[in-house]
Amino acid sequence: MGFALKKPKDVPGRSWPAIMIGFFVAFGGVLFGYDTGTIGGILAMPYWKQEFSTGFVDDQGPNVTASQTSQIVSILSAGTFFGALSAAPLADWLGRRWSLIFSAGVVFNLGVILQTAATAIPMFTAGRFFAGYGVGLISALIPLYQSETAPKWIRGVIVGSYQFAITIGLLLAAIVNNATKKQNNTGSYRIPVAVQFAWMLILIGGMLILPETPRFLIKQGKHEQASRSLSKLRRLPGDHEAIREELAEVQANHEYELSLGKAGYIDCFKGNVGKRLLTGCGLQALQQLTGINFIFYYGTAYFTNSGIKNPFVISMITSAVNVLSTLPGLYAIDKFGRRPLLLAGAIGMCVCQLIVASLGTVYSGQDPVTGKSFSLNDDAQRAAIAFVCIYIFFFASTWGPIAWVVTGEIFPLKVRAKCLSMTTATNWLLNFAIAYATPYLVNFGPGNANLQSKIFFIWFACCFLCIAFVYFMIYETKGLTLEQVDELYAEVKVASKSRSWVPTTTFRDIRASKAEQGGLGSGAYDEKHENQVVHESSA
Ligand code: BGC
Repeated sequence: MGFALKKPKDVPGRSWPAIMIGFFVAFGGVLFGYDTGTIGGILAMPYWKQEFSTGFVDDQGPNVTASQTSQIVSILSAGTFFGALSAAPLADWLGRRWSLIFSAGVVFNLGVILQTAATAIPMFTAGRFFAGYGVGLISALIPLYQSETAPKWIRGVIVGSYQFAITIGLLLAAIVNNATKKQNNTGSYRIPVAVQFAWMLILIGGMLILPETPRFLIKQGKHEQASRSLSKLRRLPGDHEAIREELAEVQANHEYELSLGKAGYIDCFKGNVGKRLLTGCGLQALQQLTGINFIFYYGTAYFTNSGIKNPFVISMITSAVNVLSTLPGLYAIDKFGRRPLLLAGAIGMCVCQLIVASLGTVYSGQDPVTGKSFSLNDDAQRAAIAFVCIYIFFFASTWGPIAWVVTGEIFPLKVRAKCLSMTTATNWLLNFAIAYATPYLVNFGPGNANLQSKIFFIWFACCFLCIAFVYFMIYETKGLTLEQVDELYAEVKVASKSRSWVPTTTFRDIRASKAEQGGLGSGAYDEKHENQVVHESSA
């Protein structure tokens, strides 16, 4: 089959415009990664602590208390959670493109302005909330926009590039924080915060030029505009047969969905859409439960405990491994498919977490009075760090990007924005829960579980669950149009059989078959009956 990802011969027109557009939109991931990555460094800056202090803490002079810190950190997750949920009504009302422009230009921008201007905690916290709200909106809108514009044969790479941008954002945050951390003026925190204006302007500038997605325009009944958008994406004249065929299929799929009734939130939980929602939410929840953000949020402290002297170097290394490992993943998504990669990733992460947990537990000791842990064998600690990096490799090349790819492509158009916003909100909810609970689980002292390195056993158990989850829940969607994914779920009842499924019918066939039986929109067909139509016409 060769190594290169080649455009199939039967795909007319050019793919590069849609690919470039998809890659450009992925830039929103930089906002996501940077915004989540920057706060840890800012909170540790001496000038920031002094400026925002409301009193003396212990023997450290003017400082910010633990509860103020947790308020500032967790308000972002609250914002992202509600932002992701609001993405659906916004995207179905304003459209995917204008929603992105609004989210970045108004909501996120307001958050950045407030944080830059702030010299006290209340305004800074409000800024974190709005920036988080904007990031939450953007984090659901990007995979939606990308999936609805990408050519099917390379959709995985395009949506996966969003994850690549997230990792670059995290790395940039580490670099900028490090560059300004010692400044003894407001520049120490204002520069890393204000840099985000640049990301926002780049995203908005591009979105003003890019087209609305043809699928949203069809949903709105704007056929002419949908045809213009698709011809721009595929670089083919609007009356070209390939454009007419692709649009006809999207249109037929949409009419078919409408014929089943109007789509409300309740429809996201029914029938095979409910199964898909469970798959998407489970995938995003498990992506967080693999323990990735333990490394990015608390890794510095953990590595320092392991006897490593320069935490900055460690955070640079883990961030760089994260960025670089995403690249082979992007290549593999459309080459080998979602299911085998997720399975391989889960097994790889599972083994790494077990080794890290065992090494950490066996080779570290703890002072029973102060609770401070120390290394009993430096080589074992270094080996553990190497396995953390291998774990990041497995995450970044599989579960990192594929969680976004799969959730972007498994839902039917009618409820796509709603379902995608719920799966993304699940990611943020778990992100928050883990960030919030981890210190209590790991730390020594009253009210804490003092798990120390044993926390890795929890991540190991979750990665083990990931293996079963992929086997039973993940359908192979590589190389299918979004409309064929719908058929796949209607026809194949068991995820493990999805790899051998070949689409044999189109929604236009179904429409024709329905027309014979009394026309679309009669609302008389229940889902079981619809599935029969698919089977009959494909038989
Ligand atoms: C996750 C983030 C994580 C990042 C690391 C994303 O896919 O959703 O929570 O920090 O990957 O690269």
